[in-house]
Amino acid sequence: MKAVLFDLDGVITDTAKFHFLAWRDLGAELGIEVDEAFNEELKGVSRIDSLERILAQGGIADKYSTVEKDELCVKKNAHYLELIKEMTPDDILPGIIPLLEELKAAGIKMVVTSASKNAPGILDLLQVRPYFDGIVDPATVKAGKPAPDIFLAGAQLAGADPADCVGVEDAASGVEAIKAAGIVAVGVGDKQVLALADRVLPSTADLSLAVLQEAWAESHK
Ligand code: G6P
Ligand code: MG
Repeated sequence: MKAVLFDLDGVITDTAKFHFLAWRDLGAELGIEVDEAFNEELKGVSRIDSLERILAQGGIADKYSTVEKDELCVKKNAHYLELIKEMTPDDILPGIIPLLEELKAAGIKMVVTSASKNAPGILDLLQVRPYFDGIVDPATVKAGKPAPDIFLAGAQLAGADPADCVGVEDAASGVEAIKAAGIVAVGVGDKQVLALADRVLPSTADLSLAVLQEAWAESHK
């Protein structure tokens, strides 16, 4: 294992709940219910694609022009930024700092492979940006998760072969993307939701260099 590719939302920090609140409120304004089960399908999905799914869910996908959809995305993001602005290093999920420290000491590359355009700002708020060798800019990636593109770009940024990487994800779309890239997938969360992962851990607190290396080694037997 030469590199670890990290999703951000739901792996490094629990912004997933803020994305949910912002989409739920925007949905309510549009008369569309976004509940937690539906929100699960939005995890890992880009801003515009999330909006498209919400509008489709409400059966009003054709009601808005491209410009109006962009405005709705700007509105959602403004609310989201308001919700996350007080984030501090205390909001880093359990086990993440010890893991980043272990990986750094072992000389393993670390890259952020999040669909979020807010990733650099969030990593700064959490004060963890120096750990990472790179952040893939999702704007440069052709197809979003569950397509493999962002993880392939992450491996390239790390200077590693996909076969020598492990990807960490909390979303079904993310796990699917990792696997499509030919990368070993470690999921954090629900075993059924993340059924495609090579290994699923209940919590980020269970992540460690040893666990990631073991998952990688098992897949390369
Ligand atoms: C992550 C989250 C999604 C979010 C996407 C885009 O993948 O899991 O919920 O929609 O990033 O985030 P952004 O911050 O660019 O709106
Ligand atoms: Mg995520």
